[in-house]
Amino acid sequence: MAELLDGKALSKSIRAEVKKEVASLVEKTNKPPHLVVVLVGEDPASQSYVRAKNRACERAGIKSTIINKDESTPEAELIDLIRTLNADHDVHGILVQLPLPKHMDANKVIDTIEQNKDVDGFHPLNIAALQIGTPGVLPATPKGIMTMLESTGQSLEGKKAIVVGRSNIVGKPVLQLLLRKNATVTIAHSRTQNLADEVKAADIVVAAVGRAHMIKGDMIKPGAIVIDVGVNRVDDKLVGDVDFEAAKANASYITPVPGGVGPMTIASLLQNTVECYKILET
Ligand code: GUN
Repeated sequence: MAELLDGKALSKSIRAEVKKEVASLVEKTNKPPHLVVVLVGEDPASQSYVRAKNRACERAGIKSTIINKDESTPEAELIDLIRTLNADHDVHGILVQLPLPKHMDANKVIDTIEQNKDVDGFHPLNIAALQIGTPGVLPATPKGIMTMLESTGQSLEGKKAIVVGRSNIVGKPVLQLLLRKNATVTIAHSRTQNLADEVKAADIVVAAVGRAHMIKGDMIKPGAIVIDVGVNRVDDKLVGDVDFEAAKANASYITPVPGGVGPMTIASLLQNTVECYKILET
């Protein structure tokens, strides 16, 4: 029976460490780290994520501002706002909540964010740094996933890992981070043939496809570590991409949904904000 990877508890201890570090930095600089979150439109899920980020910042002593823009805001106006925030010495982190309305080009908007204020790690220069292995801001969810894997104390070296999902936000960056740990990594996606066989061969499974219970319990190799990034609403309940109840019989470690990867994303965002602050202020 698997041991639970409790993202809520791990996130709490990371947030406590961040709070301590922020307090000691502010003692020296007299200036708190400041994250600005830009939300365009009124998508309820995005509003709820943004509120959670705001609350976590404030609890850690990080100043947090939410800028709400109307759904119909022209792209040029959003880009102007980002340029203003780039130039503002009191702003250390800029996060544009995704998805953006259809009339905007998200890549163009993200390209505008100053690299050292890109707390999401989505800027092309940060993505390039991740690829090459040079210093840069890591995207929050992948960073949180790696922190969870490290918390197991298990070496990833030479292990077979499969990442199910090839998004720019999760799948592709997780591939790079697992490679850094010398895992042998496969990326599976919607066109992958014999997904079950691919997953069955893996010692580490990262599921990030966004389809409820797509990964069945009998696909999990005995002793595998299972990280479930999925958040799917089924009959008013949140469930992951992995059939948790069945998979936990085979896995050595498994993340729950909710309470697994989700809270780690916020902890990583706070770490990234402090990282950007240190680059800009110290
Ligand atoms: N929307 C869903 N996840 C994320 C994230 O990590 N960052 C941003 N900016 N938007 C998101």
